[in-house]
Amino acid sequence: MDFAVEIEDLAFRHKDGTQALKGVTLKIKKGSRTAILGPNGAGKSTLLLHLNGIYLPQHGTVKIMGLESNRENEKKIRQMVGLVFQDPDDQVFCTTVWEDVAFGPVNFNLPDDEVQRRARQALRAVKLEGLEQKMPFHLSYGQRKRVAIAGVLALKPAILVLDEPHAFLDPSGKVELIKILNGINVEGNTIIVATHNVDFAYEWADDVVIIKDGRVLAQGGPDILADEKLINESELEYPVMVKLFRKLPEIGYNNIPRSVDEAAEFIRYKMNKLKKN
Ligand SMILES: Nc1ncnc2c1ncn2[C@@H]1O[C@H](COP(=O)(O)OP(=O)(O)O)[C@@H](O)[C@H]1O
Ligand SMILES: [Mg+2]
Repeated sequence: MDFAVEIEDLAFRHKDGTQALKGVTLKIKKGSRTAILGPNGAGKSTLLLHLNGIYLPQHGTVKIMGLESNRENEKKIRQMVGLVFQDPDDQVFCTTVWEDVAFGPVNFNLPDDEVQRRARQALRAVKLEGLEQKMPFHLSYGQRKRVAIAGVLALKPAILVLDEPHAFLDPSGKVELIKILNGINVEGNTIIVATHNVDFAYEWADDVVIIKDGRVLAQGGPDILADEKLINESELEYPVMVKLFRKLPEIGYNNIPRSVDEAAEFIRYKMNKLKKN
């Protein structure tokens, strides 16, 4: 098995003394859609900042595509891992949308036609074509978030990491976000999303990591989010689909549907079966 990320016994203490990570051991498969779930303060953001070398391990190891994260490899790791911060205003700073998205490729000293191509592709992926000359601070929050994602996509990172991408997005923004992420994942990139949104994780992820209080509580398929003990222990709640189907044991299910569409299909199937009997 090939891993994009391998973390072994990672511990990290912030400057003010807060021990945010207390021995995290975790592997993330190449090409996976991984959700890192946990309540506020669990250590998600601190963990993500270790994935692209912004933080270097104080204890334990972090390997990205087999390469150990340390001062020597920092630059290579930054090129492999694109991190989208929670707040686009920490990331989007150029005068126009176009400049912002092209900033990374220009900084990597790519030839001009390659810069153009990448910026265009990235803007298309997040559906911001036509807004190239806008000033980012004239855009909505959701649009600025998409500018931040495009800026990272333009670097073509093998691993894309997003910190709480749902924060402050409206419902249509959330639907768009899933589409954008799925579009990128089709190309074989690894996508890692930190979130406390259990519904998103249940529907989107193929691998779920639950962290709490600086430690990994569990890792597995999205079905771990139907595990009563784990949900209670992690201070998360069941995804809506799980809540619904737990109330309907009489309709009989082996796997709880992961989305509204899957649920509708399942219920229709059951109803047709009833009619035939
Ligand atoms: N820059 C920082 N300085 C000091 N403490 C921090 C800093 N960032 C996070 N923390 C603390 O570390 C712990 C983990 O925080 P964080 O990684 O932000 O968790 P999450 O992203 O899951 O909410 C919390 O107790 C938080 O208050
Ligand atoms: Mg956070």
